Amino acid sequence: MKTRAIRSLALASVLLVGLTITMVVAQGMSEGPPDYREWTRLNPQPNSIASAHPTVKDVFVNDAGADAALSRSFPFPEGSEFIKASLGEDLSVFVVTAMRKVAGFDPDNGDWEYGMFERGSDGAFEGMWAEVGSDMHMMCVSCHTGAADNDFVFLTYTGD
Ligand code: HEC
Repeated sequence: MKTRAIRSLALASVLLVGLTITMVVAQGMSEGPPDYREWTRLNPQPNSIASAHPTVKDVFVNDAGADAALSRSFPFPEGSEFIKASLGEDLSVFVVTAMRKVAGFDPDNGDWEYGMFERGSDGAFEGMWAEVGSDMHMMCVSCHTGAADNDFVFLTYTGD
């Protein structure tokens, strides 16, 4: 990809995170992210692909989705969940984005729910899962449609 395209994507993503967090706060439906500490990390090395979510990030999959992710067999089973943990310059996680497969939630787009959770000044993560058709949901879907062949999961960082 050309440098200028990467830069504008990176900028768009920074704006996107800011916008989404504002929407989360405005909607006042805060909750915490899933506990992914025991999940499988899919990127062998810290992933700093400059494409989107432009920081170093780690991607984790839960047990329900691990076999499908590792063997690349799609679609993912019901109950599969992914977490992308974005790391700041000090390598601590400052925002977590998430996808989870819920049968019947959004059949046109792979039945994925999208969530976003930000670390507050007290260290706790708060955010929400977006309603289908909401601005946040459509924004996430708009990009993840690009990975429709992988059941909407990019898996660009697995080293395969
Ligand atoms: C600008 C395009 C874009 C938008 C908008 C976007 N993503 Fe992503 N997402 C990506 C790309 C590209 C990857 C692959 C990893 C990487 O390069 O960051 C990814 C990876 C992920 C992953 C890890 C699983 C996977 O697909 O590989 C999760 C979870 C995720 N995004 C959640 C979200 C959520 C939640 C939203 C909406 C708040 C969102 N994304 C919006 C482009 C986008």
